[in-house]
Amino acid sequence: MQISPSILAADFANLQAELDKIASADWAHVDVMDGHFVPNLTLGLPVVARLVEVSPVPIDTHLMIEDPDRWAPMYADLGAKSVTFHVEAAADPRTLARSLRAAGARASMALKPGTPWAPYADLLPDLDMVLVMTVEPGFGGQSFMADQMPKVRAVRESVRRHGGEIWIQVDGGVSATTIEQCAEAGADVFVAGTAVYNAESAVANIARLRDLVSVHRH
Ligand code: DX5
Ligand code: ZN
Repeated sequence: MQISPSILAADFANLQAELDKIASADWAHVDVMDGHFVPNLTLGLPVVARLVEVSPVPIDTHLMIEDPDRWAPMYADLGAKSVTFHVEAAADPRTLARSLRAAGARASMALKPGTPWAPYADLLPDLDMVLVMTVEPGFGGQSFMADQMPKVRAVRESVRRHGGEIWIQVDGGVSATTIEQCAEAGADVFVAGTAVYNAESAVANIARLRDLVSVHRH
């Protein structure tokens, strides 16, 4: 059970200090948005390159961008340990996943809420993680979509059948009130932005989220 706080909810003027606040997490989730695949625009390669250098935890990049076939391997090359591309944007997801692994990253594929899992289940051998979005990608602070839990269960069932250690990540609206149903459905990597970077201490928030899912094992 791993916690990956999203720095989308952090202070973008002080990213190094904001990363230091989440040293007790397993990953730092970095949302790359290009203003095309999603309406919002955040940051890209040069910023992620510096985050990799200063972060106390490995960087988990979530690429909400067009043409990931071209761009995603560059995030692996600069040292992001996990690189997630959206299947809706990828021309050749299998080749892309293989090139991410070849570049030394964990290869991960994301599904928007409207994207079904079944057509992509045969990609599992080339993946290290599947991200099931629990909001429409693009913005932090949105409401959790519980209707995505059947998809999490379906991915978990595929992983069970396939064997091996493939992680299932959920992202969007994950908080102390929603994280347990995600774990129960089969998720084991939890992204949380506002639930970590809020008025309370990030360290305490991470500990609380961890505690809530610690009874679950997949
Ligand atoms: C949304 C991003 C999320 C976002 C989650 O497109 O992918 O990572 O930061 O934020 P919260 O946890 O606030 O929903
Ligand atoms: Zn994200």
